[in-house]
Amino acid sequence: MTTQADDKYTRALRTPPPPKMSETVVDGEVVKKYKMQDISLAQKLYNRIGLVGYNLLITYIPSHTIRLAWLRLFGAKIGKGSTVLRGTTVFDLPYLTIGENSNVSFRCVLDARAGILIGDNVVIASDTHLLGGGHDINDPDFLPLPKPMIIEDYAWIGTRALLLPCRVGRGGVVAAQSMVNKDVGELEVVGGNPAKPFATRNPDALRYSGRYRPLFY
Ligand SMILES: CC(C)(COP(=O)(O)OP(=O)(O)OC[C@H]1O[C@@H](n2cnc3c(N)ncnc32)[C@H](O)[C@@H]1OP(=O)(O)O)[C@@H](O)C(=O)NCCC(=O)NCCS
Repeated sequence: MTTQADDKYTRALRTPPPPKMSETVVDGEVVKKYKMQDISLAQKLYNRIGLVGYNLLITYIPSHTIRLAWLRLFGAKIGKGSTVLRGTTVFDLPYLTIGENSNVSFRCVLDARAGILIGDNVVIASDTHLLGGGHDINDPDFLPLPKPMIIEDYAWIGTRALLLPCRVGRGGVVAAQSMVNKDVGELEVVGGNPAKPFATRNPDALRYSGRYRPLFY
């Protein structure tokens, strides 16, 4: 798996501005406060219209063209030949980046509030949840942790998998119904809850196109 801070995946990843912290002293006690995303009201409104419109209505329209046009209009970056099938929920559109010829299947959840980057020829099977971000459970403010997710080229995520913020290496495979809470190495096949490696993929297999856009899907 590529780990350099400036590789093509981290360069393509788009993340929200980090929570803004402020401290005030009240009755001699330091009170910490955070503001989630320090963005303008107009930007917030635009994000909200994009998100609510997509998740309530657009995601159910049986047309790749309409769904992709909406996602792109409201900030998602989606490459040629890629698609997101019906019923998938997306938060937040501006921080979702998908490369070329990748496929996100039916009824997935792409929680991109901390940024999700999906590479080229990635296949994400139905009902899979990709969760970016989290919270510090020991912080009195339940401080958000903006941990993004990166799925590198040719990864295959099996149906009903749940991925916590992590990085799946090029050609990595997550078996169906697995819960992933650690990075998956290049060509590594992992499964179970929590997912553990159980096989290695043939590197010569990574030549196919992940493009999958049947009519009305
Ligand atoms: C990852 C996968 C391809 C592996 O298939 P395979 O190479 O045929 O592997 P096997 O079934 O021979 O299993 C190999 C080992 O991994 C284990 N394993 C396989 N799938 C597993 C899973 N989902 N969770 C936990 N362990 C799993 C098996 O129990 C077996 O362990 P054992 O050797 O101790 O008995 C397959 O399990 C899978 O999840 N496919 C995804 C299907 C899917 O989502 N399709 C949607 C269409 S895009």
